[in-house]
Amino acid sequence: MDQQSILEAVRAFVCREFSGEGTGHDFFHLERVVKTAVRIANREHADLFLTELAAWLHDVGDHKLNNGVDKSAEQITAILKELNVPVDIISNVITIVSQVSFSKGKTAESIEAKIVQDADRLDAIGAIGLARVFAFGGSKQREIYNPKHPDQTTIQHFYDKLLKLKDLMHTETARQIALERHVYLESFLKRFYDEWNGEA
Ligand code: ADP
Ligand code: NI
Repeated sequence: MDQQSILEAVRAFVCREFSGEGTGHDFFHLERVVKTAVRIANREHADLFLTELAAWLHDVGDHKLNNGVDKSAEQITAILKELNVPVDIISNVITIVSQVSFSKGKTAESIEAKIVQDADRLDAIGAIGLARVFAFGGSKQREIYNPKHPDQTTIQHFYDKLLKLKDLMHTETARQIALERHVYLESFLKRFYDEWNGEA
């Protein structure tokens, strides 16, 4: 199978698996990550096929979507073997995907892993990131905000992670996009507290 057909088959697979997903990790999240990753990969002269393949598959079998159990290597292997993808490419994709997730705490080593991680992180900030954080928080029964225990609410996730992302970008292209999205999140938070306090 040629590379284009593999990418199309993988896209069709994740479209079936992730459509209608309600925590912000739906098919359109994958499509945005692919689009952003390919855009960055073109500028960084990275391997376009590997980048796109890993971007489509980066949330497959992820622990946060599978009740805490990580099945990504197993599931990615099954999908790609079925498409007769060579084992060295499968192994590269698995390595990239294992390094993308913030919560797994690994370091992105290759340029392709850095790019997919940047693209995934960009989708967690800005207007879309804002929508996704509350979708995810709600799916975990988390309150939007509660001044009595703010650390247990979705607003806390802005401080734990989202506001840190602009300084964690690997590529210059992502850093530039992140800056604008970061400012947007900050202005949202200001407005949120103003409304909460009856000042707006
Ligand atoms: P990881 O990087 O560990 O795989 P993700 O960053 O993929 O986890 O999670 C992606 C999305 O889920 C982001 O949009 C993020 O805001 C949201 N998310 C993750 N953890 C939380 C949380 N504790 N509360 C609210 N949203 C969260
Ligand atoms: Ni993702």
